[in-house]
Parts: sequence; structure tokens; C-alpha cells
Amino acid sequence: MKLCMIGTGYVGLVSGVCFSDLGNDVICVDRDIQKIDGLKKGVIPIYEPGLDELVLKNYKNKRLKFSTDLKNSISKSDIIFICVGTPTKKKDNSADLSQIYNVAKEIRSSISKFKIIITKSTVPVTTGDEIEKIISQKVSKKLFSVVSNPEFLREGEAIRDFIYPDRVVIGTNDKKSNRILKNLYSPLTSKGAKFVNTSRRAAELIKYASNAFLATKITFINELANLCEKIDVNIEDISIGMGLDKRIGGRFLRAGPAYGGSCFPKDTKAVVTTADKFNTSLSVIKSVIKSNQNRSSLLLKRVFNILKNKVKGKKICFLGVTFKANTDDMRDSSSLSMIPSLIKKGAKINYFDPTGEKDEFKKIKNVKFSDSINLAIKDSDLIIIHTEWNDFKSINFKKEVNKKNFVIFDMRNIYSPTKMRNLKIKYFGIGR
Ligand code: UGA
Repeated sequence: MKLCMIGTGYVGLVSGVCFSDLGNDVICVDRDIQKIDGLKKGVIPIYEPGLDELVLKNYKNKRLKFSTDLKNSISKSDIIFICVGTPTKKKDNSADLSQIYNVAKEIRSSISKFKIIITKSTVPVTTGDEIEKIISQKVSKKLFSVVSNPEFLREGEAIRDFIYPDRVVIGTNDKKSNRILKNLYSPLTSKGAKFVNTSRRAAELIKYASNAFLATKITFINELANLCEKIDVNIEDISIGMGLDKRIGGRFLRAGPAYGGSCFPKDTKAVVTTADKFNTSLSVIKSVIKSNQNRSSLLLKRVFNILKNKVKGKKICFLGVTFKANTDDMRDSSSLSMIPSLIKKGAKINYFDPTGEKDEFKKIKNVKFSDSINLAIKDSDLIIIHTEWNDFKSINFKKEVNKKNFVIFDMRNIYSPTKMRNLKIKYFGIGR
């Protein structure tokens, strides 16, 4: 099939590349000339394990193309995926849909035969209705169909999530579009993924409901971890004991720092704002947002306690600063608020991240990037394990750290407290 992906961010690029790998002809379009030029030369604008090889392979065999020419790319394709950003509007926390609607206006001037127009970007319920309205101002409704097909890819696992999804959700009442898309996704559904056809509005809401629910699950376990710390109970036991109940499920029950990234913080706020517009209060999600916003200062208090409130002059090392492992993404990472707060209290920060130095910290005095784990931890009083990269899972702290009484605060519960006790290392985790 001939596909056009508009927007080469995470969603557009990963989906486009994977669709081409499944044998489709795909044009990935972006207005960013530099990005497109880079992609043509094999420069991948995002950190995503395995993506570079797939881009190279499919670009070479010409199933994958990159272009800045939106009109031409649309007219050559049968299925158009809108994959542009929907960031949070500062003034009211709603999703900023200006890029979506601009694209819809561009699309309407390039339709001369039937096209399926799909929103893959996360968009509030009723956005599809609006897109349909914009396009139908210039194009007959017989020539297009607007479908919602939300994506459920995780950064760092995006290729695997694309190839082995739990479900493919297609939001449309149009039988023809549904048939075509069932066929497009058949290589995935034949391997076990469930194909779910719903109304367009339901598909839009499924995406928000899923992200908000996962954010709730994490926040729930994080709050229980706070309790566990006070009653000498191990949160891991709780996660396992609860998670084995099939109605609950064990995934996304790992306690840690505040959840971050480009999706959960943005989507929880947007769904609450949408519901408010329809005079419905999503009070559970509202309190999840609040609890998560408080979490970084709560963990900071714990750091102060660990250091017995003597933060001034202390050398603190952060292992990992991104919002999670296997990504270079800093968006809404809890390190962005924790590091400046520790600096304000007089700490000296050294950090190492497998994805390199971060612009966000370059201008902050007393924050230094070290280009190896050993260098970063060498002179530390306190080591904070902030992300769960495999690189951090078997460090010989006793050998590598010069300070005698160094402390570890493992925010991802990577290490065993018993082993640390046996090694006579002062060690703190989350909820245990
Ligand atoms: C999330 C969803 O998981 C995807 O299904 C969705 O497609 C994507 O948002 C999106 O809307 O585009 P992502 O933001 O890449 O994916 O990251 P996750 O792996 O979900 O992690 C989000 C945050 O939750 C991270 O800060 C992570 O550290 C935290 N987390 C996750 C926990 O603290 N505990 C867990 O058990 C799981």
C-alpha cells in the first residue's frame, strides 16, 4: 500500500519505517528540511534502539522515502497518517491542535482520489470530527474518510511494540476504510495482535484512557511505596503479590521517581481538560497529576534526610538523567527539577548518561557531565540511580568509589538491599 506519514517524530518515523519494513511504500514528510536531509543520509533524529538499521535497509530498497513536499507526497499516497505533535498549551493545559488543523488544511488541497486520513497523533475526543469538517469544506465526503488509529509505542521499545502490539485500534464507522486498514495491519494481527474496530471518538478516548490508567497505576504504587518506607515492608513484594492477580497485572507497578516523558504528563492533563469542557470531572486523574507533581519534592526530601540535611558541598552523582532508560528524551524527567534544587542547596552534581551530555544542564554552575560511569561516581558522597539502564546494573561500587562512607539512593530498585548490606554499603531504595 502507498502510505504517507506527516511528521517524523517518534510516532511518524517509527511507524513509517516499520510499515515500509512490512512491504509498504512509505513517504515520511516533514517541514524540517535539515531533518529530512539528515534522514536521507542515514542521520536518525531520535535515539531509538534498532531504528537506524531499519531506516537504512528500507531506504536502500526504496520502500522508504523522505520528503519535505507535503502536497506531492499526499497525492501519491492512499493512506495519510497525521503524526504531528500535540503539545500542552501553557494557558489551559489542553492539547495544542494547531499543527493538526494546519495539516488538515494542507491535505484538503491535495485530494483528487479516495484517501484515508488517519490521526496517529494523540488527539482529544472530537478532533476527528473537526478534521472531517475542515476537509469537507473543500472536498466531497465521498473522496475521503477520517479515521482514528492511536499508537501505543513506548520510547526505547518502539520497534518491538510496533511489531508485537497487544491490539490495533481502528476508530471508524466506514466499512471500506476498516477493510483496507485491517488488511494493512494483517501482518501484525496474524501474529496475535487483536484488531479492535470502534467509533472514531471511542478510539480517540481509548488512547487517553490507556495512558491515564498506566499513569494511575504507577502513581498508585508510588504512593504505596511511601507507606512501605514507614512500615518496613518491601514494595516489590506488594507489586508481585498484587500483580499476580490477572485482573490487576504486574506491569507498570514498579515504584520509582515521578513518571515523566512526552506522553503521560501531557495526556493526563489533556484528558482532564477535555472532560472539564464536557462538564465532567475526572477526579482520579486529577489527583494522579497532583501526586506525580509532588513526587520529585518528596524524593528530594528523602535525599536531604539521607544526607542528614548537610547538602552543602556534597558531591552527588546522578546515574542517568533521562525520564527512563533506552531513550535520550529529557522531557518531564524528574532530574530536571531535582538537580537544580540540589544545586540551590549547595551540592555539586556529577552525572553520567549513556546518551551523553544534556543541553538542559550545560548552563548550570556546579553540574558536570562525566563521560563514563567510573568517572562520574569516583568521588561521590551520594550516588543517585535515577534511570534503569542495564549499564548501571552491575557496578562494583566498592572498587570504583574513593569516598569511604558513600551512600547509594537507588530510585529504580535495581540492586538487592541484602547484597548491599553484606557489602557494607549504605543503601536506600524506593519503598523498601
Ligand atoms: C507511554 C505509553 O507506555 C505508550 O503505550 C504510549 O504509546 C506512549 O506513552 C505515548 O503516548 O506515545 P513512554 O512515554 O514512551 O510510553 O514511556 P513508558 O515506558 O510508558 O514510561 C513512562 C513513565 O513511567 C517513565 O517515567 C517510566 O520511568 C515510568 N514508569 C513506567 C514507572 O515509574 N514505573 C513503571 O512500572 C513503568
